[in-house]
Amino acid sequence: MSETTKRSTGQHQVKRDSFTSSLGMMAATLGSAVGLGNIWKFPSMTGTNGGATFLFVYLACTIVVGLPVMISEIMLGRTVKANAITTFNKLSPKKQPWGLVGVAGVVAAFLILCFYTEVAGWVFAYIFKGISGSILTTDPKVASDMFGQLISNPLMSLVWQWIVLVLISFIVTFGVSKGIEKVTTKLMPILFCLLVIVGIRSMTLPGASEGLKFLFAPDFSKISGTVILMAMGLAFFKLSIGMGTMMTYGSYCRDDQNVPMTATKVMLADLMVSLLAGIAIFPAVFAYGFDVTAGPSLLFVTIPAVFASMPFGYLFAIIFFVLAAIASTGAMLSLFEVPVAYLSETKQMSRKGAVITTALGIVILGAPAALSHSLTADVTIFGKTFFDLFDFLSSNIFMPAGGLCICIFTGWVFGKDRIREQLSNIGKLNNGGIISLFTVLVKYVSPILVALVLLNMLNVF
Ligand code: PFF
Repeated sequence: MSETTKRSTGQHQVKRDSFTSSLGMMAATLGSAVGLGNIWKFPSMTGTNGGATFLFVYLACTIVVGLPVMISEIMLGRTVKANAITTFNKLSPKKQPWGLVGVAGVVAAFLILCFYTEVAGWVFAYIFKGISGSILTTDPKVASDMFGQLISNPLMSLVWQWIVLVLISFIVTFGVSKGIEKVTTKLMPILFCLLVIVGIRSMTLPGASEGLKFLFAPDFSKISGTVILMAMGLAFFKLSIGMGTMMTYGSYCRDDQNVPMTATKVMLADLMVSLLAGIAIFPAVFAYGFDVTAGPSLLFVTIPAVFASMPFGYLFAIIFFVLAAIASTGAMLSLFEVPVAYLSETKQMSRKGAVITTALGIVILGAPAALSHSLTADVTIFGKTFFDLFDFLSSNIFMPAGGLCICIFTGWVFGKDRIREQLSNIGKLNNGGIISLFTVLVKYVSPILVALVLLNMLNVF
C-alpha cells in the first residue's frame, strides 16, 4: 500500500507520495541509473577514449566520487522529504545560498532531457524499424545509412521526441508509487537477462577476443586530463547524481532504508549492466570490422548487425530495442520528477500541471537539440551543436560542479553528527565503519578530486 503523507514543504501543504518498499526504492533508483548511459554512452565513450584505460578511470571515479555523492543525495533528500531546492533551503544555514545548487539541478535535468528524449526517440523508432525487418543487416554501410536517414529527417526527429515526452508525462502523472515504482520494478530484471543473452552471442563470434582485449586490457599511458574529465562526467551521468535526481528519489525513501547499502547495490548493479553492454557490443564491433570509435551510433549500427547474424535475430532485435526503450524510460522518469516535484510542491501547481509545464519546456528547449543532425546542424556554440552542447554542459559542468557542492554541503554544513544519525537510521543500523569512511571521502577526498578535474578543464593548470 502506498504510504501517503502530508507534509509542509516550505510554501504550502502537499500530499506526498513515497516508495512502498525498500525493493521498490532500489528498483526505481536502479531504473534511474540504468538507461541509455549504459547501452549508448558507456560503450561509445569507452570506444572513443581508449577502451580499458577509460574503463579503469571510470571505475575509480564511480567508487571514490560517485558513490559518496549518491549516498549524500539520498540521505539529504530523506532527511527533509521535499524537492531538491527546498531540501537545500531547509538544511542551509540562514543567508547561505545553497538553494542555488538545487536550482542548478533543475536546469541540468532540463538540459539532459532535451537530448536524452531525442536518443530515446531513436530507440523507439528502431522498435518499429525492427518490426518491419529493415534494420537487420550485417553490412556496416547499409546500417549506418539507415541510421543517418532517421536522424537527419527533421520531422521524424521532432515527432519521436514528442512521442517519448507524451509517454513519460503519462507515467509521471500517476505518481511515484503507482507510476515510477511499478514500471521500474517489473522491467529491470528482464533487461538484465537480455543483455546476458546478447553478450554471450557477441562473445562467441569469430574475432571477438580483440573486442574483449580492447575493453579489459588497459594501457595507462593513455590517461590524460580529458580522459579523467570524461570518465568523471560519465560516472555522474550514469549514477544520475550531482543534480538533485537522487535527492528527489531519496525524499520518497522510507526511514528504515539502509541508505549506504542501497546506494552500493545500485552502483554495482549499474556497473554490471554497463560491463554487459560493453561485452555485448565490443566483440561484435571487432568481429564485423565496425569502427570502434563510431561514438553514439554504435547502438544503432552495431546492435542490429549482431542480431542480424543470430538465429531468431528478428525477434531478439525487437525485444532488445523494446527493453532499451524501457531502460531509457526509467531514467527519464527520474529526470522528469526533479522539476515536477519542485513545481508541484512550491508553485501551487497540481501534479498534472507540473508535468505539462515540464513537458512543454522540453518541447521548446529540446527542439534545437532534436534538430541538431538536420536543420540546426550548422549552428554551433563553442564548436558544438545544441545536442552536443547540452550533453557536454550537463555531464561535464553541471553534474560535477553540483557533485562538488553536494560533497561540501554534506561534509561541512550538514556535518558528521547528522551524517551518523541519518546513515545509522538513528542508531538502528550498525554502519559505523562505513559511516567513518564515507565522512572522510565526502569531506576531503571526493571534493578535492572533483575540484582538480574541474580546474584542469578550465585550464587553470
Ligand atoms: N543515469 C541515466 C543513464 O545512464 O542513462 C541518465 C540520467 C538519469 C542522468 C537521471 C541524470 C539523471 F538525473
